[in-house]
Amino acid sequence: MATLHLSPSSCEAKVEEAIRRFQARNPKSLEHHEAAIDSMPGGNTRTLLHTAPFPVVMVCGEGTKLYDLDGHEYLDFVGELTAGLYGHSSPKIKKAMTGVLSDIGLSLGATNIYEKKYADLLCSRFDLDSLRFANSGTEANIHALAAAREFTGKRKVVVFRGGYHGSVLAFGLGIAPNNVDPHDWILSQYNDPDALNEVFNTHDDIAAVLVEGMQGSGGGIPASRKFLRAIREQTLKAAAVFILDEVMTSRLHPGGMAATIEEKPDLKTLGKYLGGGMPFGAFGGRKDIMAVYDPRKQGSLSHSGTFQNNTLMLNAGYTGLAEVFTPDVAIQFNKNGDNFRAELLDIFEGTKFTVTGVGSLMCIHCTKPGLTSAQIRAKDDYAPHEDVDLKKLFWLEMMEAGFWIHQRGSIALNLAMEANAMEAFVQAVKAFCSRHHKLVHFPGQNIE
Ligand SMILES: Cc1ncc(COP(=O)(O)O)c(C=O)c1O
Repeated sequence: MATLHLSPSSCEAKVEEAIRRFQARNPKSLEHHEAAIDSMPGGNTRTLLHTAPFPVVMVCGEGTKLYDLDGHEYLDFVGELTAGLYGHSSPKIKKAMTGVLSDIGLSLGATNIYEKKYADLLCSRFDLDSLRFANSGTEANIHALAAAREFTGKRKVVVFRGGYHGSVLAFGLGIAPNNVDPHDWILSQYNDPDALNEVFNTHDDIAAVLVEGMQGSGGGIPASRKFLRAIREQTLKAAAVFILDEVMTSRLHPGGMAATIEEKPDLKTLGKYLGGGMPFGAFGGRKDIMAVYDPRKQGSLSHSGTFQNNTLMLNAGYTGLAEVFTPDVAIQFNKNGDNFRAELLDIFEGTKFTVTGVGSLMCIHCTKPGLTSAQIRAKDDYAPHEDVDLKKLFWLEMMEAGFWIHQRGSIALNLAMEANAMEAFVQAVKAFCSRHHKLVHFPGQNIE
């Protein structure tokens, strides 16, 4: 049995080689990117999608496949960061959308019959007394926070390191400079009930706690029961609002992630796939809190937005949830995701890689000490220890093998994906680990 030693420079050299192959394979993407810099800063309009040396530029998608400018075909494991649940061309959603164009019309500029229909379905499916629509998950969170502040008459909001609630509500490991209301945040540690208790012991003006049941952008990290219980207990004691951000996680169960936890939040925010491919957001929950937006009441909060009752979004979203992502489908789909993750965990056993997540959502991590999924309870656990080069090599070579994955490691399965796509991914991961066994394992590790 061989004892192998990792050479730190060899990973860097392999990344460089992979980048050279990437550049040679994608000349049209490069050309497009360089031209796009004229009209968009850095040629980019979504920071998360910028990659070095330049992004691969897509032309179209069909089912679970994506096609780029240089003629490559990819199996899509990004799933539009959870919004692409239905794949790229669900026939039922397509029919609903073309039906809107031919029979209903766009931009009615009036209360329409479709908003109540979809609100009823969302309320019954996600256990909400009432809700309001928004244009994005970001907006849903902004308006849920405004409701909490208005309802409680307090200002401060507790959020968690690694939390992401939208483009102006980001808490990588601190508070992003472009956040709204930077002075009202209290930043605590995710999955740390003691830290949360301390926050409530030292502040008496807390309006809300805003939390993801599983940190998505933060690395696919599920909240522990103890942590969620502490949030519920403290918010009840302090008369603060418990807001569960379900923008990513509502797809993890027919009733959303909230249906799988013991604690009932006061408000939930929704987004992503629930627009059936169209921009979408919604927030809802307790009737007494949502009543701050009741326009019949003098002094109620205003919540206007041109596209909040857009006919395309309402009909595509309704069709997706009512006819495609039915409760039975949601259960089976997430079981498939659990099985897929278990297969990856098997391959990653004893390596620098691991995978965290729940059901159809997960994140592949690569750390120098080889942290296991159980050791990753917060972003601070893994972020300082990432093996950046090896993770980049994985991303570059998985793309080269035809798998569209996000460089941060996030995977969101989609309904158009067949079992053989997941099996092909598993085989490609296995091949990567065996091709780079010296890099993937530890110096001195017995790898036979
Ligand atoms: C948990 C969570 N909340 C909110 C958002 C913001 O949603 P949107 O991008 O639709 O504004 C996201 C987006 O990734 C998210 O992951």
